[in-house]
Amino acid sequence: MTEHQLTEKYRPKTFDQILGNRDIIDHLQNLTRRGKGAVPNLLLTGPVGCGKTTTAQCFIKGRELWKQQNSENFPYDFGTFEEYNASDYRGIDFIREKIKPITKLKKETIVYLNEADRLTPEAQDVMKSILEFKGNAVFILDGNDETRFTDAVKSRCVHFRFKPLLVPEVYNQLLYIIKTEGIQVNTQIEKVAKELAIQSNGYMRTAINSLEPYIRG
Ligand SMILES: Nc1ncnc2c1ncn2[C@@H]1O[C@H](COP(=O)(O)OP(=O)(O)OP(=O)(O)O)[C@@H](O)[C@H]1O
Ligand SMILES: [Mg+2]
Repeated sequence: MTEHQLTEKYRPKTFDQILGNRDIIDHLQNLTRRGKGAVPNLLLTGPVGCGKTTTAQCFIKGRELWKQQNSENFPYDFGTFEEYNASDYRGIDFIREKIKPITKLKKETIVYLNEADRLTPEAQDVMKSILEFKGNAVFILDGNDETRFTDAVKSRCVHFRFKPLLVPEVYNQLLYIIKTEGIQVNTQIEKVAKELAIQSNGYMRTAINSLEPYIRG
């Protein structure tokens, strides 16, 4: 098993499984229950490996579930989302040609722009009006560096600032992984988990990756 797979294996699948940042997670879960056209654009910023992408994925799934449970309000409106990463952002043309047409669709489409802090200021300038006249689209912008987003973009989104997790949250998750992987918990492995939790600075991905050699030997 590679490092990547261990973090993937323990990636939360639902809002309840996401650790830390509880107020943000609860707020976002509530937003999945809005009517059509009433879900705002979301901006998720914060340090690496603290749950932004995981939360965006849970949001998309949670929204889908809500629409299924309230299908009378969302007829023929299921299963539509698009994900783009920094490598897709080739500037203004990408925004005009790929993103803008989504705002004209009748179906609600969730558009997840991962690493959107890499968008150039010019591209963000075009994004500005797209975010404002978004139609049935819901944009989720994600990035580590909030200072790279223009004020115009920020002001057209509800902004959620993720914080690093607390050391006990990381420690408990490491212990959970250790137990689930069939490793016997003793004072030695507890000490390792505690050290790694402290060293991780609350960045869960870093902590899980550092645990890998102890799990696989
Ligand atoms: N809040 C959390 N609760 C539980 N596990 C988490 C949490 N945050 C991160 N993880 C673990 O770390 C992995 C990476 O998390 P994620 O992709 O959500 O980070 P990110 O904030 O999007 O980071 P980046 O800014 O580098 O893209 C997850 O697959 C999961 O194993
Ligand atoms: Mg991410």
